[in-house]
Amino acid sequence: MIVEITDLTHRYGAMLALDQLNLQIPPGAIYGFIGPNGAGKTTTMRILTTLLLPSSGEARVAGHEVTRDIQAVRREVGFMPDFFGVYDNMNAYEYLDFFAGAHKVAPERRPQMIADLLDLVDLSHKRDADVMGLSRGMKQRLSLARTMIHNPSLLILDEPASGLDPRARVELRELLKELRAMGKTIMISSHILTELAEMCSHIGIIEHGRLLASGDVATIMRSLQPHHIIEIHVLGDAANAAALAVQLPQVRDVRSFVEETPARLEIDFEGDEQAISALLVHLVQGGIAMTHFAAQASNLEEIFLAVTQQSTAAPESAATPA
Ligand SMILES: Nc1ncnc2c1ncn2[C@@H]1O[C@H](COP(=O)(O)OP(=O)(O)OP(=O)(O)O)[C@@H](O)[C@H]1O
Ligand SMILES: [Mg+2]
Repeated sequence: MIVEITDLTHRYGAMLALDQLNLQIPPGAIYGFIGPNGAGKTTTMRILTTLLLPSSGEARVAGHEVTRDIQAVRREVGFMPDFFGVYDNMNAYEYLDFFAGAHKVAPERRPQMIADLLDLVDLSHKRDADVMGLSRGMKQRLSLARTMIHNPSLLILDEPASGLDPRARVELRELLKELRAMGKTIMISSHILTELAEMCSHIGIIEHGRLLASGDVATIMRSLQPHHIIEIHVLGDAANAAALAVQLPQVRDVRSFVEETPARLEIDFEGDEQAISALLVHLVQGGIAMTHFAAQASNLEEIFLAVTQQSTAAPESAATPA
């Protein structure tokens, strides 16, 4: 595991921000760290990057304990905070050069490295532009380039997608894929769950400083979401299709949109993949002519709501070990 957090607790005065948090991230993962405002995401990230000393518990990055092997941890980690900071009279090149210096990158290696990084985040054309004059999305990308200046194995990104337009989000997603292909492990926080759904291999859901669920995305989806919406398009008698569907015990509700051509039905379905395929057979054998049959994958938003609801009902039983 590249990140191993054991019983991590942090108090700001009387405020308990992390409550015996346990979390693991395997190497090569894109780990989505999801939780509402005040859940403890930034606190966890600041501890992992040695910027904050925990009250108790242990956190290791690539085997190095964050309170004891500070220098070793800092070599392994690149951190992108959730704000850019203020840098007067500095262009993009100078900004990266400044941080390269802080990380003791040899001066003769810097020009090529900075050119490569600017190229990676698509900012070569802004090399000489004043950083405070960059757009928000450009600042985010420059900040991301900065996190990689010392070639760390783990990137910790605190809400990198906040404030980005849809196109910039897609670009960020592509960039993260590229970084993953380069062998980096990435931890990325957000509360906009759907924006993480496609880019993460693993997720952890945090609330009130505790991890409610953690694991690879597919496993979490499977364990938490027997609920699907199945959309079908029907040629001919949509009412007949609906009547057939409700015969199955897993069907909770059917909504018909007969004004559309072809008619569309949305079936609320509580069952596994086996049951979904049985529904398809049932409809076909019932003589329904369909041009489309698709089970919508449940998204992180739904998982999050499901998990946090469980946690309100029964705080202890909701946690799934990673
Ligand atoms: N410097 C601080 N002093 C006092 N309390 C703090 C401090 N930083 C964070 N907290 C409190 O700790 C809790 C966790 O905060 P944290 O910033 O880790 O949450 P977060 O998950 O990053 O939230 P957000 O999604 O809003 O960024 C919150 O209740 C917050 O008010
Ligand atoms: Mg935060």
